[in-house]
Amino acid sequence: MPAVRLENLTKRFLTTAAVDSVNLSIDSGEFVVLVGPSGSGKTTCLRMIAGLETVTSGSIFIGDRDVADVHAKDRDVAMVFQSYALYPHMSVAENMGFALKIKKVASAEIERRVREVAATLDIVEELPRKPRTLSGGQQQRVALGRAIVRDPAVFLFDEPLSNLDAKLRMAMRSELIKLHHRLDTTMIYVTHDQIEAMTMGDRIVVMNEGRIQQVGAPLAVYDDPSNAFVAGFIGSPTMNLLNGTVRQRQGAFAFNTDDLSFDLPPSHVAAAGGAITIGIRPELLSLEAIPDAVEMAGKIETVEHLGADTILELSTAGPALVAKLARNDQVRYGDSVRLWVDAEKILAFDGATGERLRAQPPLNP
Ligand SMILES: Nc1ncnc2c1ncn2[C@@H]1O[C@H](COP(=O)(O)OP(=O)(O)O)[C@@H](O)[C@H]1O
Ligand SMILES: [Mg+2]
Repeated sequence: MPAVRLENLTKRFLTTAAVDSVNLSIDSGEFVVLVGPSGSGKTTCLRMIAGLETVTSGSIFIGDRDVADVHAKDRDVAMVFQSYALYPHMSVAENMGFALKIKKVASAEIERRVREVAATLDIVEELPRKPRTLSGGQQQRVALGRAIVRDPAVFLFDEPLSNLDAKLRMAMRSELIKLHHRLDTTMIYVTHDQIEAMTMGDRIVVMNEGRIQQVGAPLAVYDDPSNAFVAGFIGSPTMNLLNGTVRQRQGAFAFNTDDLSFDLPPSHVAAAGGAITIGIRPELLSLEAIPDAVEMAGKIETVEHLGADTILELSTAGPALVAKLARNDQVRYGDSVRLWVDAEKILAFDGATGERLRAQPPLNP
């Protein structure tokens, strides 16, 4: 039985559908990340699961229960927000134990559980302190601790690390992954940050404009995006997406954009009637010749040395391209270079709808 199941879940605010017919089944113990740009409906989705937002249509099941008529406090979920929402007049211990106190759990038991969770989060010494005396990272731990103490069936996280600086965010990211391994509880995590999604999720759910665009394991989505939106959203640096046209030329398919033109394998473009978008991951572009590959001329416009990697921005006869190379200290701003990319690895999308054009199996001879 899935831990959480959403069926045609929809939320309208006046005329706009913030969440539009979302279907999703989450396994028990799974860490699922909803990821998408601001306004794509992630928070609204989470708030409906938590019972903090009414549902326009569709259903939510937690375990085998349809929770339509179940009050937020009885759903056995705990939500952690971006704003830690700690009670300022209560100590850390009181904040962490508050939900149990409301449930009339005995105070000795509350104290025991609060201390136990505080120990795993390394905030035992902070227990008597007030939230305002803590750093952002410590406050976030308290907010986490307050959720863990309740021992819920499902954790809901809404961008819980967004207010932390980059270094702390990375540290908390790996702590949350470890916490998930330890607790083995179902977690639904919302973020706009695709790197966070890729590194944390067992599966990621890419959302845009209230709709699910794709669901899958991080690398499966990376390798096999189902449309141009997902292709451009997942991955850093972002995939090169080139809008152009394709036409048949002496038995081959020629892709054209501005003054740039090269042949694509027929398998990529069998379904394209004119407008096409092609996608090239930056790491697929090479400054070294690849046999039988697409070759083009470029000029280096920027060089970023990141240490292990070197990122180039190149101008071409068509759109600018971003290339990700292994460390390369030979390249210079202004250099004219040749670029190669294995045509079989280029992705193709319908130029009008953005839908992926799948490689067609070759016809039997
Ligand atoms: N209470 C509300 N009233 C009206 N519109 C809302 C409300 N909450 C969210 N929205 C709209 O719903 C859409 C989705 O919002 P939200 O779920 O917060 O997205 P995300 O969390 O992905 O940034 C946005 O267009 C937002 O403006
Ligand atoms: Mg949000």
